[in-house]
Amino acid sequence: MSESSRLFFALWPDDITRDKVAALTGHFQEKYGGRAIARESLHVTLVFLGETPNSCLPTLAEIAANVATPSFNLTLHHAGYWGKGIFWLGPEDSPPALLALVAALREGLQEADISFDEKPFVPHMTLLRDAKCRESPGVIMPIEFSVKRFVLARSVPGSKAVRYEAVREFSLG
Ligand code: 2AM
Repeated sequence: MSESSRLFFALWPDDITRDKVAALTGHFQEKYGGRAIARESLHVTLVFLGETPNSCLPTLAEIAANVATPSFNLTLHHAGYWGKGIFWLGPEDSPPALLALVAALREGLQEADISFDEKPFVPHMTLLRDAKCRESPGVIMPIEFSVKRFVLARSVPGSKAVRYEAVREFSLG
C-alpha cells in the first residue's frame, strides 16, 4: 500500500441526488461533450488537501469529528463553466452552515499544521471535464439535497479515469 493518498474533504450526495445529477450530466454531455464524472464519484469538494501522508489520517479524522456545525440543505441552482473545460453545478448562495463547515475544517487543519489548498472556496459539483461550452449555461431546475454528513475522500487512479471514494464519513449537527 502506498504511504500517501490524494485526499479531500467533500459533501457526498445521497443516491437520489446522484441519480438526479447523473441524469442532468447525460443531458449536458450530449450538448457539450467532455468526460462525465461517474455517478458514484459525484461530490462537492470542501477542502482539497492533495497528496497527504497516511500517517495524517488519525489527525484528519479527529479534526473532522470535532466539527460542530449544523446540518443544512444545499440547492444546486445553476450550471457554470470554467475555461479549462470544467462544467459544474452550484448553489446561488452558500448556506451559512456550509461556509461554517469549511471554515471549521480549515481552522483545524491550520492548527494541526496540515497543508491544504487555500484558494477561496467556490462550492461546485463538477459534472464534465474537457467539455466545450460556448454559451453561458445558466439556471437549471433546482436540485435540493439534505446535507447531514461529509466525508474524507481520496482519488483512486484508474486505467481510464480517476475515481473518488469516501474513506471516512462524519455526521453534522
Ligand atoms: P474540481 O471538481 O474543480 O476538479 C479531487 O481532485 C477534487 O478536489 C476535485 O473535485 C477537484 O475539483 C478538487 N480540487 C480542489 N482544488 C484542487 C486542486 N488544487 N487540485 C486538484 N483538485 C482540486
